[in-house]
Amino acid sequence: MKFSVNGKTVFADETLAGKRLVDFLREDLGLTGTKNACDIGACGACTILINDEPMKICTRRLAEVEGAEILTIEGMARTDGTLHPLQEAFISAGAVQCGFCTPGMILTAHAFLLRHPNPTRDQIRRALYGNLCRCTGYQQIVDAVESVIPYYQEHALRSHSFNS
Ligand code: FES
Ligand code: FES
Repeated sequence: MKFSVNGKTVFADETLAGKRLVDFLREDLGLTGTKNACDIGACGACTILINDEPMKICTRRLAEVEGAEILTIEGMARTDGTLHPLQEAFISAGAVQCGFCTPGMILTAHAFLLRHPNPTRDQIRRALYGNLCRCTGYQQIVDAVESVIPYYQEHALRSHSFNS
């Protein structure tokens, strides 16, 4: 099987076709930024982007991503470690506490802002509906997403990655 993860081509043996994608990313590729929490597709902690669409991958198998382009939280920062403005915004707004929901929140918000660079606060809330946070009360998360609207309007309309 062949697909790309954060811009790099990845090959996986056919014997891994039935392995959960979240386990493959964490165990085989060492990309532990993607979290595994509920195991049943309910909380959004395992959300990544597959072909630019947010997907909860705790119930997805490796065979389902043949030929796909995958973006994980590790692919949001620049290769020199500089955080993406959306990541910085989460920190500045106090939108990260335990951090378990954060990678999924950020990737869901990223995909949303690329398609909707001028959202209302209510639209942001609805976009993040499938991502649960037990810590922040959501206000700071919505604040963080709202604060980077100017960045997406100016810089990210044609670019799905901070690195591209
Ligand atoms: S861990 Fe996948 S949705 Fe909760
Ligand atoms: S920061 Fe803890 S679950 Fe969201």
